[in-house]
Amino acid sequence: MNREEISKIAHTHHSIKSPLDDESVRRLLERGTPRGDERILDLGCGGGEWLLRALAMHPRLRAEGVDISEGDLAQAERTADRQGVRERLVLHRQEAAAFASPYAYDLVLSVGAAHAFGGLLPTLAAARKHLAPGGHVLIGEGFWDRDPSGEAVEMLGEFADLATTVERVEADGWTPVDGHVSSRGELDDYEWSCWGSLSTWALDHPADPDSAQALATAATRRSEWLRAYRDTWGFVTLILRRTSD
Ligand SMILES: C[S@@+](CC[C@H](N)C(=O)[O-])C[C@H]1O[C@@H](n2cnc3c(N)ncnc32)[C@H](O)[C@@H]1O
Repeated sequence: MNREEISKIAHTHHSIKSPLDDESVRRLLERGTPRGDERILDLGCGGGEWLLRALAMHPRLRAEGVDISEGDLAQAERTADRQGVRERLVLHRQEAAAFASPYAYDLVLSVGAAHAFGGLLPTLAAARKHLAPGGHVLIGEGFWDRDPSGEAVEMLGEFADLATTVERVEADGWTPVDGHVSSRGELDDYEWSCWGSLSTWALDHPADPDSAQALATAATRRSEWLRAYRDTWGFVTLILRRTSD
């Protein structure tokens, strides 16, 4: 079972692949699409869940998503068909950093995909290239809520604390106009859901050759979360505008 297959099963009950609940996603999308007829772009869209929710909220909105995962994009397409929004959604299978478009976008999203650009500020630089004047960026990124162990840094990568994260964004020429720090409940729900779904799949498919590996992976990832980073890692989603264009 490869990483993509594990991720697909792990997100069975948490279609947003980031630690935010449905109400937080709705509120952030509402803030990022004040008119309702925006053209929006998601860099690292996964199964397109942020885009699909924005399309459902606003019948005149148009959306585009970029991701390298064929399986995730196929899933986005199927859901869009089912929800009757397919004609307003365009999907691109390619490296997000290489995406080019004739359009400028009123909202550029990138949630949990900063590694595709080499970090938070490079992600903002990429988003800026696609941003219409006066537009919003919605970006979700991890931060250290407390000093992490070396093991946690090795596992999740280099992050700053929340204040430093926001200061770096401001120093880069952006003003936060809203934001959301995932609650302990949202962070916990995400991890329980991912590793619980993978465990459930393994228990329901005992004869599958991947069953034992799936169960072991879920146990390892759950234990890594509980032991190495549950008490130190956080996730912030910011809505940004250029401070001056
Ligand atoms: C944690 S998931 C987040 C998905 C989505 N933004 C969400 O919140 O539901 C990260 C996504 O980034 C995508 N990704 C990773 N590297 C990428 C790259 N170089 N170009 C485009 N997408 C990439 C992955 O395929 C995955 O779908």
